[in-house]
Parts: sequence; C-alpha cells; structure tokens
Amino acid sequence: MTDPSGVTTERGEAVAAAMADIRAIEAEHGVTRAGVGAIRDRLIELSGNRRLFPAEQFPAPAEEERIRSCLYRLAQDDDDRFALYAQSSRGSVETPPHNHTTWAVVVGFEGQELNRFYDRSADGGVEQTDQHVVEAGTGVAMLPDDLHSIHIEGPALNFHCYGLALERLDEREFYDAATGQWRIFTNVSDIREARHGLQHC
Ligand SMILES: [Fe+2]
Repeated sequence: MTDPSGVTTERGEAVAAAMADIRAIEAEHGVTRAGVGAIRDRLIELSGNRRLFPAEQFPAPAEEERIRSCLYRLAQDDDDRFALYAQSSRGSVETPPHNHTTWAVVVGFEGQELNRFYDRSADGGVEQTDQHVVEAGTGVAMLPDDLHSIHIEGPALNFHCYGLALERLDEREFYDAATGQWRIFTNVSDIREARHGLQHC
C-alpha cells in the first residue's frame, strides 16, 4: 500500500516504542492493578498522537456487511504476546459479560464505548459493580479474571490491548443471560493485519 505521507511508517515506530514500554511495565510490575493501570496510561499517550491514526485507514465494515466491527492488528510479538488492535465499529455492537484470561486494556480514540464491570453473583450469574465510558483520552484496565461487557451505539474507533493475542484466548468465558450459563467465547471479530500497511475490513 502506498504511504505518501509516511504516516504508516511513523505509526509503526510509535506503536513499537509503546509496546516496548508495555513489555517493560509488565516485567517491572507483573500482572497487577498498578501494572495494567500503567499500561493503560502508556496507550492513552500513544493514542494522543492522533495524526498517526487517520480515520480513512481504519474503516468500519460497510453497511451491507454482516459484521458491524472489525479489528486491525497493530502489534503482536512472535510468541503472540502483547497484542494491540484498533477496533473500528459502525455502531450497535455489544458483548455479554466476559473475562479475558489475560490482562486487557481498552483506550478510546473516536466515539464512545460503554464498559460495564461485574462481579460473579452468589447465584452463579453477574452483578454490575461499575461502568466507564471509554472515549478519547480515557481507558480501562483489567486483570485476567475481571469481567466486563462493551456497548457501542455510534461509530467508534478504540484501542484494545491484551497480554496474549485474541486468537490464542480459547478459554474466555461469557455469561449467557438467556440460559443463565457461563460459556466459552469462541467468536473473535474479524482481525485484519495492519502491522505493515493497512487493509480494509
Ligand atoms: Fe473484553
């Protein structure tokens, strides 16, 4: 893909620098509240360089497509650790409450993503404990067992970062309110390679 403005190269360098810092943060703090909070703050810093993430390079799926959101992979180590994605949504995207089995951070860029947080309830379900609207300049950070759900109404672009790539997370649980059961999360949104230039959803 042509890159007349050089923004793809510059973005790659900025992302690589952020991920190097995030590896160092995890090594220093471990998988702790302080550690994931520091990772969130580093990604907020990366997202503040708005020129590096032009909207036309991260289009959401078109109206006629079945899916309403997709992921652009921005970083992932050779061993699949430290995965960073840009999630582009055209709206009306929701997930049930779920865990990640690795640490997870969501940072806003464009639009709003409501995050609801839960504890497991005594009857085997979930009870909401908190919520946060992720938008530009803000983010949320979760430990592997933390539960959240996401709710996106309008178009949005957000950064999602995980301790291990999504396609390796095959034991994520979600709560199915219709049946009152916990089940394994198998469907991962379309992931598009974006580490070396960008492709459309
Ligand atoms: Fe999640």
